Formats: sequence, structure tokens, C-alpha cells
Amino acid sequence: MKLNTGKSTTVTDAMKSRITVRDFLSTPVDDDVLKGIFETARRAPSGGNLQPWNVHVLTGEPLNNFRNEVIGKLMKGESEKDTFPPYPSPLWEPLRTWRYKLGEDMYNLLDIPKEDKMARLRQVGKNFLFFGAPVGILITGDKRLEVPQYYDIGIYLQSLMLLAREAGLHTAPQGAWRAFPDTVKAHINHPDEQHILVGMSLGYANPEAPVNELYADRAELDELVTFHS
Ligand SMILES: Cc1cc2nc3c(=O)[nH]c(=O)nc-3n(C[C@H](O)[C@H](O)[C@H](O)COP(=O)(O)O)c2cc1C
Repeated sequence: MKLNTGKSTTVTDAMKSRITVRDFLSTPVDDDVLKGIFETARRAPSGGNLQPWNVHVLTGEPLNNFRNEVIGKLMKGESEKDTFPPYPSPLWEPLRTWRYKLGEDMYNLLDIPKEDKMARLRQVGKNFLFFGAPVGILITGDKRLEVPQYYDIGIYLQSLMLLAREAGLHTAPQGAWRAFPDTVKAHINHPDEQHILVGMSLGYANPEAPVNELYADRAELDELVTFHS
């Protein structure tokens, strides 16, 4: 589906036009626009109003230094211990199929066959460039958080993503950053009791990039929602 790069004026439009963008233009985001998004996102709800998110927004030199170091480590084959695994292992049905389908749909769009493992790895590696975005967001949280606080952080992420659409921007939420907790800590200097939970790329989407046409499938309404009436 063709990417919508306009500014959303309704929540419905923001919901429907938000996709995970994996190719950004280098066009900078105006400081006021950027700060406005985080200012409004302060209104995101959280259980007990704990507001358990710690948010680091990287642009310019700090962003470049950070991504260069991570890419350097990847090139040397260096890895770090993930904060926690991305999914339960093994995944069960239908979750397993959904995950598989996402990958296949994306690589089909990019014309990368299953056998071309290197090309697939290179695509995954773009996570660590923040997909070329001019803004990189890293969200850390205290290691003592319980499961409900992770919901809160998810709500905060979606708030950022919808506000970004209102500004004509796009985003990519990224669990991938949990793979480099030590480098994250070295660059943003978060307290020892925290760790990286999730990251996000933010910027203007490249409307010409085939990868940005991926409008990931969803389960049908009646598969997920039961109306008891
Ligand atoms: C918390 C979270 C973490 C994610 N991490 C990544 C990631 O590391 N890399 C990536 O390419 N996509 C990542 N995604 C994007 C999902 O693959 C995407 O949301 C899903 O396939 C639905 O597609 P859509 O966002 O385009 O609607 C993440 C999404 C969420 C919500």
C-alpha cells in the first residue's frame, strides 16, 4: 500500500496511516516539533501514574557517534547480552505464523529471496542505523519494574507514534536496541539500576522506498475481539 506522508488530523487517520517505516529521509525534524511531541506524550496514562519511562532523544553528533559505534561492533561480529528475549521461545500458533508472514512479506517487497541470508541480515542491520532517521529514541526503565509497567511503556510508545503522524512524521518502534545494552549505557549514561527496554526511529519517511509500502496484515476482528452482548 502507498505510504501516507501527510499530516494526520484525526486519531483514526493517525492509527490507519501509521506503519513501521524502515527507510527515512535525512531531513531534520524541527526542534519545536520534536519537543512538542514529547511534551504532549507526557499525558500518556500509566498504572498508579508511575510514568515508568526514561526517555533519551538523540540527534546530530550524539546520534551519529552512537550508531557508528554499534555498526562498528556489528561489523567486528561483537555482541552483547540482550536485556531480555524479544519473544517467548518457542513461539506457538498463530503467533509463530504471524511473525513468519511479516518477514516473508517484507523480504518479498524488497525482492530478497530466502536463500540470500546476507541480504536479509543487511536489512536487519539497518535497525542499528535507526533506518537512516534523524532522530533516535532510547527508552530505559528500572530493572525492578513489573509486567504492568511494560504495558505503560507500550502505551507511551503508541502515544509518540500517533503524535508523530499528526506532525507528518513516521516512526519505527525497535526492540532491536535491547541487543546492545552496554553500548546504550555508555552513550546515554543511564543509572545502573536501569536498562534499555525499547528504541524508536523518528523522522520523515522515504516515500520512494519499497520497504515503506509494507502494510502488515492483521487478524480479523472476530479472531481477536469477542463482543458479549
Ligand atoms: C515494541 C515493538 C518493538 C518492535 N521492534 C522492531 C524492531 O526491532 N525492528 C523492526 O524492524 N520492527 C520492529 N517492530 C515493528 C513490528 O514488526 C511492527 O509493528 C508489526 O510488524 C506491525 O507492523 P506495522 O507497525 O507496520 O503496522 C516493533 C514493534 C513494536 C510494537
